[in-house]
Amino acid sequence: MLEVLSTINDVFEIAFHVFLFILFYQSLKKCFLKEGESKGKLFFLSLVTNPLLVFAIMVIATGGMMFAVIALQKGISLKDFSVVGYFNAVVNDADLSSALVLIAIIIFILVIISISYLVGKRLKAYNKSLVTFVYLMFSVIVIVYDDRSSMISADTGGLISFLSNISNIVYFSGLLLLYFFIMHALARLSDKTRSINWKLFLIPPIAFSLIYGVFDFYTYAYCSEDANVVVQILSFVILILFIWAFYVIIKNIKATNDAQESKEEVKTLSVEVMEALAHTIDAKDEYTRGHSVRVAKYSRMLAERLGLSSEDSENVYYMALLHDIGKIGVPNEIINNPSKLTDEEYTVIKTHPGVGSEILAEIKSRPDLVVGARWHHERYDGKGYPDGKKGEDIPFFARIIAVADSYDAMTSNRSYRKYLPQDKVRSEIENNAGTQFDPKVAKTMLELMDEDKDYTMHE
Ligand SMILES: [Fe+2]
Repeated sequence: MLEVLSTINDVFEIAFHVFLFILFYQSLKKCFLKEGESKGKLFFLSLVTNPLLVFAIMVIATGGMMFAVIALQKGISLKDFSVVGYFNAVVNDADLSSALVLIAIIIFILVIISISYLVGKRLKAYNKSLVTFVYLMFSVIVIVYDDRSSMISADTGGLISFLSNISNIVYFSGLLLLYFFIMHALARLSDKTRSINWKLFLIPPIAFSLIYGVFDFYTYAYCSEDANVVVQILSFVILILFIWAFYVIIKNIKATNDAQESKEEVKTLSVEVMEALAHTIDAKDEYTRGHSVRVAKYSRMLAERLGLSSEDSENVYYMALLHDIGKIGVPNEIINNPSKLTDEEYTVIKTHPGVGSEILAEIKSRPDLVVGARWHHERYDGKGYPDGKKGEDIPFFARIIAVADSYDAMTSNRSYRKYLPQDKVRSEIENNAGTQFDPKVAKTMLELMDEDKDYTMHE
C-alpha cells in the first residue's frame, strides 16, 4: 500500500511539473505571440520558468554534478538524489552540509526571484508581485519538500534532523498559505469589494500542518506505516490543491490580459476620435490648420516642464486638442475673415468657449475635458472671457493652454502675415506675463523657447 502510494506521489509530482510546463507555455503563447515572439523562445521560457527544472539547472550550476560524481563513487545510490545527500556524502558533516545547502538555496531563490520578476514584468496585465511571490514560495517549498525526505533517509542527527522537523511545518503551512493567498488575490482581482477573511485564510493551513505534523512524527519516530499512508495521502491532496491554484492563475492571466488589451483598444479609439475632431475644427479655417494639435503638443511640453505627472500631462494634451471645438458653431465667413472683425463678429467668436464646453460636457466619462474649452481665453488679470475669472481662479490646466494657444497664434502663418520672428514672440510673452498669462507658465514657455535655439517650434 505504502509503496504504491509513494510511487503514485512521485509520478504525480512529475506529472505536475509537466502540467505546469504546458500551462506556462500556453499562457506565454497567449501573452506574447502577438508581439512576434518565436515559438521556440516561448518553449524555452516555459522550461526555465518551471521551478523544478530551474532547481535542477541550479544544482548543476552550483557544482552539483561534481558532488554527484563523488557521491556515486562513495556508493550513494541515485535513488537518494538530493542536494543534502550530495553535500553530506562529500563533506561527511551534517552541520556543514546543511550550511552548504542553505547557500545553494539562497542562490536558487535569487535566481528564482529574477526569473519570476522577468516573467511577471512580461505578463503586463498581471500583478507582478503576485507572480513573483507565487514562484518564490512554490520554489522554496519544492526544495524543502525534496530535501526533507532525503534528510530523513540519510539518518543523520543534529541540525539536519532538527531542520527536517521544522521543514515539515514550513512545507505545509507554506503550501496552504500560498494556496489561500492565491485564491484571495484572484478573488480581489475579480471583485475589489471582497475583503480578506483572516480566519479562513489562516486556520486551514495551520490545522492541516498540525495534522500532517502528527502523522509525520509517528511515521518517523515510531516507523509507523499506517501514519505514513496518511502522510502520503495528505501530500497528494496538497498537490491537487496546487494544480487547481495554478490552473486558476493561468486562466486569470489570460483573462486580465484580454481585458487589458480591449481597454487599450478603447483608449486608442478615443484618442483617434479626439484627434479627428481636432482636425475637423482646424479644417474650418485654412490658416489654422494643425493649430489644435500644435497647441496640444505645446501644452503637454509645458505641463511636463512644470512638473505635472505624466497622467496630468496627457490630460492637458487632450483638453488642448479640443479647446477650440466650440468654433464649430461659428460661421465660416467670420472665422475666415482676413480683415479686422466687427464688434458683432467678435461677439460671435467669443461664444466658442461656451459652446465648446457645452459640447464636451456630453462626454460624461471625461468631465475634465470641459476645462480647456471653457477657460482658455481667460486672462490672468481677469479681463478675459467668457467668465472673467482671475489669477488662480482659472484652472491651472486652462492657464497652460492659454499660453500654448497664444504662442501658436503668433508662430503660425496668417493670410496677412508670416509667423512672427522668435524674439518678437519672446518679448510678447515676457511683456504679458502676469497680465494676460500666468507668470509661472509664461516663464516656463520662455525657458522652452530659449532651448529652441534654431526656432523649430512654429508652424
Ligand atoms: Fe479659442
